[in-house]
Amino acid sequence: MTQPYLVEIDHVDKTFYTHHFLQIDPDTGRRLLHKRKSVNAACDIAFGIKPGEIFGLLGPNGAGKTTAVKMVSGLVRPDKGRVFVDGMDVERKRLQILKKVGVVLEGTRTSIWPLTPMENLIYYGNLKNVKGKILRARAAELLAFIGLKEKMNIQVRQLSRGEKQKLAICIALIADPPVILLDEPTTGLDVQSSRNIKDKVFEMTREQGKCVLVTTHDMHVAQEICDRIGIINQGVMVACKPTAELLDYFSDQVFEFRVDRVPDPVEIDGIANVRSAIVEANLDDPMVVVTVDEGLDTRSEALYATMHRLQERGLRLRSVSQRQQSLENVFLRLTRAPAKSEPDNN
Ligand SMILES: Nc1ncnc2c1ncn2[C@@H]1O[C@H](COP(=O)(O)OP(=O)(O)O)[C@@H](O)[C@H]1O
Ligand SMILES: [Mg+2]
Repeated sequence: MTQPYLVEIDHVDKTFYTHHFLQIDPDTGRRLLHKRKSVNAACDIAFGIKPGEIFGLLGPNGAGKTTAVKMVSGLVRPDKGRVFVDGMDVERKRLQILKKVGVVLEGTRTSIWPLTPMENLIYYGNLKNVKGKILRARAAELLAFIGLKEKMNIQVRQLSRGEKQKLAICIALIADPPVILLDEPTTGLDVQSSRNIKDKVFEMTREQGKCVLVTTHDMHVAQEICDRIGIINQGVMVACKPTAELLDYFSDQVFEFRVDRVPDPVEIDGIANVRSAIVEANLDDPMVVVTVDEGLDTRSEALYATMHRLQERGLRLRSVSQRQQSLENVFLRLTRAPAKSEPDNN
């Protein structure tokens, strides 16, 4: 398949089954049979990632993010659908795919602790058939890039958690793969290390044209570095859009009316077509925050009615603006309801 995508997940399904097992109820002493259960970890998941692009997969625990990463790296086989890396089917061309993909899986201990970062990179480089001078130069370059140059000759066991994570990223990059998969790269790190890793991932994608799939449940990470974001919940992709568009997705529903004094809540009560109107009383900048229902007509009616009401109550209007939603809000709204498809996925 020829396409501009370097990674393409083509409508994959994956169901995991648990085994049935017997358990003794500690209260009654009776035997309980837990039946075999199934979990939908991926349900018709489809997206693509281009070179130079960071795609973020966002979702609550158990949504199926790691499963998606494992499917791209060939560690989990989809039940249905196919996964392509650089146009090659991951199932059929496993060896070639391994050369194209660098992966950091969440919570796995990739690095060898009694060795130094430099020795780790030499070891993994050799495994991946990068050798000699080229390997040494690349290892030194990577350690400098990620900020581990000073620590390159001390044992990994002495590194902080953030530094170990940085080393794991270097290991994934040692064979210079065009595709990088990062599963929760900043989870559990302090603000500084997390910032550093975000910056490095961003830099690497832009400067070297890497194609990055990053999973996270941290909206700030996603909002800051991702070009496009897919939100998954219970194995279903509920939204997949460029980050800015995703943030806009709900922004047409919340408006800020800046006024010259703090109104009494009864003055803004029961405005037609307005779902809620609340006062945010910051002394210098009082505002009425109005949430309206979806639909262009309703919105127009609601905005007119609000302005009318404010004028009627003698409030002077300073400005009206749409409130930009945080990704956290969008995420909560999309994942709160039981998973169902959102219109116009792309
Ligand atoms: N090997 C497995 N066997 C059984 N269930 C699994 C397996 N791997 C994942 N799951 C289940 O699939 C769902 C998705 O898991 P995962 O992809 O790890 O989610 P996430 O990374 O979004 O937290 C979870 O309910 C998890 O328990
Ligand atoms: Mg996970």
